[in-house]
Formats: sequence, structure tokens, C-alpha cells
Amino acid sequence: MKQIFIRGGVPLTGQVRIQGSKNAALPILAATLLAGGEHEIKNCPKIADVYYMLELIRSQGAVVCWKGRNLSVDTRQLTPGPLGEKKEGTMRSSIFLLGAMLGRFGEVDLEYPGGCVIGDRPVNWHITHLNKMGVIFCDSDERINAKVSKLIGCEQYLTFPSVGVTENLIMAAVLAEGTTIIHGAAMEPEIVSLCEFLNSAGAKIFGAGKSDIIIQGVNCLHGGNITLPGDRIVAGTYAFACMITSGGILLEGAPTSYMTRLIPMIHAMGGNTLITEDGIYLYRREELCAIPYTITEVYPGFPTDLQSPLMAALCTANGESVIEERIFGNRFRVVPELIKMGADIHIKEHTAYIRGVEKLHGATICAEELRGGAALVIAGLGAGGETYIENCGHIYRGYENICRDLSELGARIYGE
Ligand code: EPU
Repeated sequence: MKQIFIRGGVPLTGQVRIQGSKNAALPILAATLLAGGEHEIKNCPKIADVYYMLELIRSQGAVVCWKGRNLSVDTRQLTPGPLGEKKEGTMRSSIFLLGAMLGRFGEVDLEYPGGCVIGDRPVNWHITHLNKMGVIFCDSDERINAKVSKLIGCEQYLTFPSVGVTENLIMAAVLAEGTTIIHGAAMEPEIVSLCEFLNSAGAKIFGAGKSDIIIQGVNCLHGGNITLPGDRIVAGTYAFACMITSGGILLEGAPTSYMTRLIPMIHAMGGNTLITEDGIYLYRREELCAIPYTITEVYPGFPTDLQSPLMAALCTANGESVIEERIFGNRFRVVPELIKMGADIHIKEHTAYIRGVEKLHGATICAEELRGGAALVIAGLGAGGETYIENCGHIYRGYENICRDLSELGARIYGE
């Protein structure tokens, strides 16, 4: 579905189930290549990025089978080779295949993931830190070719807690000789899920979710299993949609313990929340209030992936909000589209100044990337009149079926 049509102004009500986490699923699917065995991944989201990753691991001989939302992946017999043709270049997370392939086969030939619409996204830290474990990279502008005769555990000091670098190092270290200690590791919940999966497959990883992670290399791994948590970014997106429409919704399966920054923000915006056994119920209790200052940070700070959805919700809040983007260099691409809908936003370097307007109006706009696209959906739901969003393919990279979910909450939204 490439276009989304919205008739805005309907308060969201009812309940919706939150899909499994994209950013937990992707490295875990890569990790199935590392461990030869029969793996079970439950609550896996059916999104375009997962389908791309499945294509890549299938190209190495993995046998994949869906049973409802659960995925079984058999990686006992692989036939490793160059990874994909062009395909992996379209998805940043193909970079996780680096650690997984080096760990299992000692070599990898992967198309360079390249830049990305939200910023440059270099891979220099992946290379530097894998180098320290004995990996040799061959120079090439187009592909990453790397080899190692034996991965050697060591102490790694990260200058920035990169999610992808932490995940790659964990994967490389699991079958390495000796112990690896990652100092300054990322603490995102997705790291915890990856380690839980790898430990279920026989790895020895300690400290996941903390800034120092210890990995004792083991000789072999076997099949692993995990139930993926709900996607905290999808839950946050729907929470902001509820706020802009002045609704009241239950987000079933939302990972509330990973939403510690979002929940106080909903309160500060004029909402209330109630954590239940099923997830989180939230509603707007008063007028939408501006949030004076938000910075995007690594976990447990406010996530960059919710920056654009938050901005969309704040467009009609009472007062001025300021958002500073500190993780990616180009994550304000949604701003000109929001301005077409009547938003009052000014950008100065990495900071957005949002003066709340009374109402947004419908417009024909274009989604340029995943989270920016979701932000336009939020704006369309809150706007008066009809909004037509073009180029929505990006949104399906991360949201299973945003039209279905929001329709269940009463929105008048149609994808075609
Ligand atoms: N960076 C470098 N060099 C590197 C690696 C990273 O300079 O070698 C920089 C990046 O350019 C960026 C910062 O470090 O400015 C943070 O990048 P990080 O490596 O932490 O991000 P990532 O692993 O590439 C994951 C998520 C992103 C999410 C970020 C930050 C997956 C598949 N992707 O990316 O998710 O924004 O962490 O939390 O897990 C999304 O879902 O929309 C998304 C972009």
C-alpha cells in the first residue's frame, strides 16, 4: 500500500494489539545464522524490514516457516555466500550480518549499507571494534569484505553506546576465544532481547541492559527461542495519535517497563495513563499542552525514533515546544510536510521550535522515511479535513498495518 487517505478529527477509542518489536527482531534474525539449530521466534512482526532480513538469511540456506505470528528458522545447514544483490543495501540492519557471519564462518561479503535518509550512518565503529577481535577488512567502496581466522575476545571501549555496534560485538564475541567485555555498551531493551535469545542458544552473556556487558566465548551454540516484546516505538506512535485526537485507548501488549520516558510525557501533555495487566490505557484529560524541552537520547532517554511522532502531536499543543535531535543528523525531514498542514515549526541546526496552532488542516503530503511517515499519519488524524499521504511504502518497513490498527481505534483511515 503506497498511499494513505485520512479523514481527520475523530477521537481514537477502543483497543489495539501492539506488534512485536522490529528492532529486537532484526538482530535476532541475523543471530540465527550464528547459531546452527532450530530456532523459535514468537510474536515476530510482519513488516517489510523483517521480510528483507528473511530474504537475506534464506539466501544463506536458512529454512524459514511462519506459523501465525511465530517464526521457526532452521540454520543447521547453511551455504554461505555473498549476501544478496542490492537487497541488503536497502536496509540498514543488514549490518548485523557482519557479526553473525564472522562468528559462524569467519568471513563475510556484504553490500555496504551506505547512507540513509535520516543521516550519514557510517559503519566506522563496527569496523574499528571488530578489527580489535582480529577481523581483517578489505578496502572496497561498494562491499564489505571481511575475514578472520579466529575471533579473539578482548576489552572493548565504546566512545558512544551505539545499538548496532553493541549488537555486532555481542554476536562476534559469543563464539570467540576467551572473554570479551564491552564497556560503554548500549542499554536499549533490544540488546536485552538479543542476549536473551543468544543465551537460550547456549551463549554466556552477562550484564545485558547495563553499560558493561561480559561475554564468555563458548565452543558451539544450538537452537534458541524467544518471545519478542511489544514494539515500544509503535506503542508510542499510537499514544501520540491518541493525544492529538483527544481519545482514550488501550494498547494491548505495550512494553510498559520500556516506556518510562513516554508515560510522564503523556501526563505532561495533558493525558492520563493506567498500566493494566494487558498493557496501558491512556486518554487525554485536558487541553493538549506543549512540552518545553525534549532531547533525544540513548536509552533510557527519549528515543530518536519517537521524535517525529512527538513533533506531530505537539503541532496543536498549547504553547511552544522545543525538540533537540541528538542522535541522527537528518531527522527533521517531516517538517516541510507538517508546515503544509498548517504547523508552525522553525528549525535551527538540530533543534526544532514548534509553536502550537489551533488546528492542522488536511493536505496532500509525502512520507520520506519510516518514522516521519508515521508522524504524518498522526498529523492527518488530528487535522480537520482530508489528508492524502503519498509514498507510504516507508511506513510498512516498521508498522505491520497502521491503517488496520488505527481503524480498529475508530480512525477513518484507508490504505491503497
Ligand atoms: N554511528 C557512527 N558510526 C558507526 C555506527 C553508528 O557514527 O559505526 C552513529 C550513527 O550515525 C548515529 C549514532 O551513531 O548518529 C547512533 O547509531 P546507532 O548505531 O546507535 O543506531 P543503529 O544501530 O544504526 C538502531 C535502530 C534505529 C534507532 C537507533 C538509535 C535498528 C535496526 N535500528 O540503529 O532504528 O534509531 O538504533 O536508537 O535497531 C528506526 O527504527 O526507525 C530506526 C532508525
